[in-house]
Amino acid sequence: MVTLNVNGSKRQLASSPDTPLLYVLRNELDVMTPKFGCGLAQCGACSVLVDGKEIRSCVTPISGLEGKEITTVEGLPSRWAKNRDLPVKEGDQTLHPVQQAWIDEQVPQCGICQFGMMIKVTELLESNPSPTDAEIKTALTTSGPSPHLCRCASYAAILDGAHRAAKIMAKAKK
Ligand code: FES
Ligand code: FES
Repeated sequence: MVTLNVNGSKRQLASSPDTPLLYVLRNELDVMTPKFGCGLAQCGACSVLVDGKEIRSCVTPISGLEGKEITTVEGLPSRWAKNRDLPVKEGDQTLHPVQQAWIDEQVPQCGICQFGMMIKVTELLESNPSPTDAEIKTALTTSGPSPHLCRCASYAAILDGAHRAAKIMAKAKK
């Protein structure tokens, strides 16, 4: 039986070890922000963080993920609290800057791609707190197995969201 650490909670799973993480999150654990887009690591809709790095959960079997820290958008508030050494309970009541920025900039259109975009931007901002347009574009297009795709073409708003998130983070850390 595989046990995973998802958003800070240890979860024992009934799914077989070769099941892709995306199906386990959505069908067994009721964690619904990672979306099924292509199922082939080609769109980024299913992205989650594993030990702080983006992976495509649609093609990643759970067998290799024991002992690793899995974060979805549901877990971003706690992750943000932890990053600032705040008690997780307090942090749970505060949206992660990327979430807040996505609301402020009204980034999503249909929304299907946006959780993956937010995961990728979170990964970027944790290593580069003040990225340029070019660095954001590179992160979203060439740093993973494929570009993050948005069929609604909300790319300009995603750039604005990433910059706003960087500003919120910088302000919070002063
Ligand atoms: S659903 Fe996983 S990359 Fe498209
Ligand atoms: S907001 Fe619709 S696919 Fe990106």
